[in-house]
Amino acid sequence: MTAPRHFLDLDRFDTPVLRTLIELGKAFKRGDAEYGARPLENRVLAMIFEKPSTRTRVSFEAGMHQLGGQVIVLTHHDTQLGRGETIADTARVLSRYVDAIMIRTNEPAKLHELAAHATVPVINGLTDSSHPCQVMADVMTYEEHRGSLAGKVVTWCGDGNNVAASWIQAAAHFDFTMRLACPPQLMPSEPSLAWARSKGAHIELTTDPDAAVSGSDCVLTDTWVSMHHQNKDRLKLLAPYQVNGRLMGLAKPDAVFMHCLPAHRGEEVTEQVIDGPQSLVWDEAENRLHVQKGILTWCLL
Ligand code: CP
Ligand code: NVA
Repeated sequence: MTAPRHFLDLDRFDTPVLRTLIELGKAFKRGDAEYGARPLENRVLAMIFEKPSTRTRVSFEAGMHQLGGQVIVLTHHDTQLGRGETIADTARVLSRYVDAIMIRTNEPAKLHELAAHATVPVINGLTDSSHPCQVMADVMTYEEHRGSLAGKVVTWCGDGNNVAASWIQAAAHFDFTMRLACPPQLMPSEPSLAWARSKGAHIELTTDPDAAVSGSDCVLTDTWVSMHHQNKDRLKLLAPYQVNGRLMGLAKPDAVFMHCLPAHRGEEVTEQVIDGPQSLVWDEAENRLHVQKGILTWCLL
């Protein structure tokens, strides 16, 4: 039996595969992907959610329906996972019923255990350490508005979190300079940095948001309190990193603003920026649907 095509993290891929997936996403969006009307007819995707979700759940569910397939949504509490059944056994059993499994979980080890024991493709719908589907949609969105990311300066401002880690990995594939301005206590995780640098990515870390944003082509941020954070003390540390009109004014005049959502206006970003003309956030959210159709068809067909 051939190994299933998992979509786990961007560091597992050769760049041409990621390029194919983004181009597929764009083709699905245009309506000219080279598949029939219902390429996933009779295919079933199980989605395991150990954390809340709006975009990931609805975009995967709508995408499967639009491609002719179906979904089953499982939450931690209403399955035996919540009572201690192992991830490995869950993977073996679900593989007998469904054609692919998407999981949103906390520890990346659970994602990897699921993939190791599933005989169907496993898709990472976010862990505490990464969010690759989001960053695929983000790259697609930037390209739609401004063309190739190659040679551009992309600046992350705020918490060096899971979404930042996937952006760092993307820098190794799409050849842009990735700057991250974070408080010293909230710098991005070492493994994503080490991997990207080993691949020759241009990564710059600083604690100075003004210096980082100056001359940038794209400014990114995310919530200051992710789903896996209990501690609100981080709000004080992050206050100087708010993306507001003044900070955005230091970027290039045609720079764009991106945020994976959900957003907290008045914390990591002001209303002026997220609801202003440079913001691409609604296209980012929409493109989850399109790029994930690319990921689903690549995993399943
Ligand atoms: N951006 C994102 O993944 O949103 P949800 O948490 O709503 O799925
Ligand atoms: N960093 C955020 C992303 C939400 C999509 C979180 O993990 O809560």
